[in-house]
Amino acid sequence: MKEQLAKIKAEALNALESTQAVADLDALRVKYLGKKGELTSLLKQMGALSPEERPRMGALVNEVKANLEAALEGQAKKLEQAAMEARLKLEAVDVTIPGKAPKLGHKHPMYLALDEIKDIFIGMGFTVLDGPEIELAELNFDRLNAEEGHPSRDWSDTFYFSADEKVMLRSQTSPMQVRAMDTMELPIRIIAPGRVYRKDEVDATHSPMFHQVEGMVIDKNVTMADLKGTLNTLAEQLFGKGTVTRFRPHHFPFTEPSCEMDVQCHKCGGAGCPTCKGEGWIEILGAGMIHPRVLEMAGIDPGEWSGWAFGMGLERTAMGRFKISDLRLIFENDVRFLEQF
Ligand code: DAH
Repeated sequence: MKEQLAKIKAEALNALESTQAVADLDALRVKYLGKKGELTSLLKQMGALSPEERPRMGALVNEVKANLEAALEGQAKKLEQAAMEARLKLEAVDVTIPGKAPKLGHKHPMYLALDEIKDIFIGMGFTVLDGPEIELAELNFDRLNAEEGHPSRDWSDTFYFSADEKVMLRSQTSPMQVRAMDTMELPIRIIAPGRVYRKDEVDATHSPMFHQVEGMVIDKNVTMADLKGTLNTLAEQLFGKGTVTRFRPHHFPFTEPSCEMDVQCHKCGGAGCPTCKGEGWIEILGAGMIHPRVLEMAGIDPGEWSGWAFGMGLERTAMGRFKISDLRLIFENDVRFLEQF
């Protein structure tokens, strides 16, 4: 029995030494020290021993048991430490390795141009407004003096949301004039940039979605000279000193008189080229003196107050500002193009 005990001990210690994981230790614990383990079954055979031998043998078995338990514990600690070291090695961060520079994007050229436009107007005391792209036809048309039957209200030109033609994707930023008149104290100086929508096919100069910047001033004794002075200042600050502009008569339902402002072509300097379609000029905005009916509909007395307004195409303005020759480049978002700004 003694030999058996020695054998179990040697075997167990041997097995213990070659364990690789804490889980293996549990298996060994069961195998040698468990209820049906080898030491326990040895103890059960003690009945066969003489009464003198029994306590000695018992003491020996207990000693081996204590040895094994201590060894198990020691090995468990060793394995845990080894596992921890392996993990620390695996998860080590080498803080001396050079970092990977994140690829940062930057502002789109059209928004760069918009930032400059905002700065110029804020410098002249204007407030920047933001408004809804889903708009009431009443504000987009009626309150701007474009009543039922006006050609721009046609289904083929406008994105309506329902057959009753009450709600639509705004076709211009001009309804922001009405929103400003309805909510702000006089005098008013605002610009309102944003997206507008029309049923246009995409080509070199058209897109069903594009951007406008609306502008409006209402004050006492405001004249067309103020309009021209302000818009010429804008053109010079945006496109450079000495920029040549021209104002042509035009018609808009909500202004009287109305005009369009052209800027001399940035590509050819007025000689005529594909960018300006041979004209030498590029139209960038519509403007005019606010129609007295528009003021009246907003409860403003046209005898006391007058105002001017403009609506500027942002894509075209950005094209002039950064000498971009094709409108589609603005929307394609090719990084090789965008990275140049
Ligand atoms: N809303 C006009 C358009 O989309 C542009 C415009 C013209 C705006 C004259 C104005 C204005 O404020 O006074 O064509």
